[in-house]
Amino acid sequence: MSKKIKIVPSILVKNKDGFKRQLDKIKNISKYIQIDIMDGVLVSTKNSVSPKSISPLTRGYKMEIHLMVKDVPRYIEQWKKLSNVKKIIWHYEAEKNNKAIIYLAKKLRKNKIKPGLAINPNTSLSKIKDIIKYFDTIQVMGVTPGKQGQKFQPKVLKKIKGLHQKYPKLNIAIDGGVNEKNFSAIKKAGANIIGLGSYLQKSPDPKQSLKKLPR
Ligand code: DX5
Repeated sequence: MSKKIKIVPSILVKNKDGFKRQLDKIKNISKYIQIDIMDGVLVSTKNSVSPKSISPLTRGYKMEIHLMVKDVPRYIEQWKKLSNVKKIIWHYEAEKNNKAIIYLAKKLRKNKIKPGLAINPNTSLSKIKDIIKYFDTIQVMGVTPGKQGQKFQPKVLKKIKGLHQKYPKLNIAIDGGVNEKNFSAIKKAGANIIGLGSYLQKSPDPKQSLKKLPR
């Protein structure tokens, strides 16, 4: 059975001004968005997008937060306070202790926020096999995280396929490098949540670009 495809526009910016610009670009596309947070530690880039700075701008939106940060508990504490945050995704590469990971996932569920775990292109599925069941979503990174507009790494298709075969009901998200050329292969491999950054942000007509995707 094939899962329904959900498109999630993502916003990756330095600060509040950039946030306004990227949000404006996708405002007619989706009321559910992903917000990228980087700390300059887990990934090489850093931004200053905080719950306080964006909360007035995101009324009427539902959001998921993609934490590309080392100190996961601290950022979870901050972001879970926004009532329109529905999912928080963090990186396996940030915290590799299964007990600590499971604790965070359970804590989010208690707060009615879905937990998601992201894995980098070079991290193998075997590392997360014992913790997948605690997550709503596994987010497979198509690029090394931290920037928009990077090239998709086709080797991650195998990872999506492997996840889909073993966990047919799991939400499998792909984030990074998605465009109209690789969309079909990603879908066929079994991803059902598709993150789109520069594909929409760089488009002169994001609505039209969305229509071009072979959904
Ligand atoms: C990758 C980020 C993505 C980014 C995707 O570092 O985690 O969320 O916004 O952007 P594109 O689609 O341009 O790769």
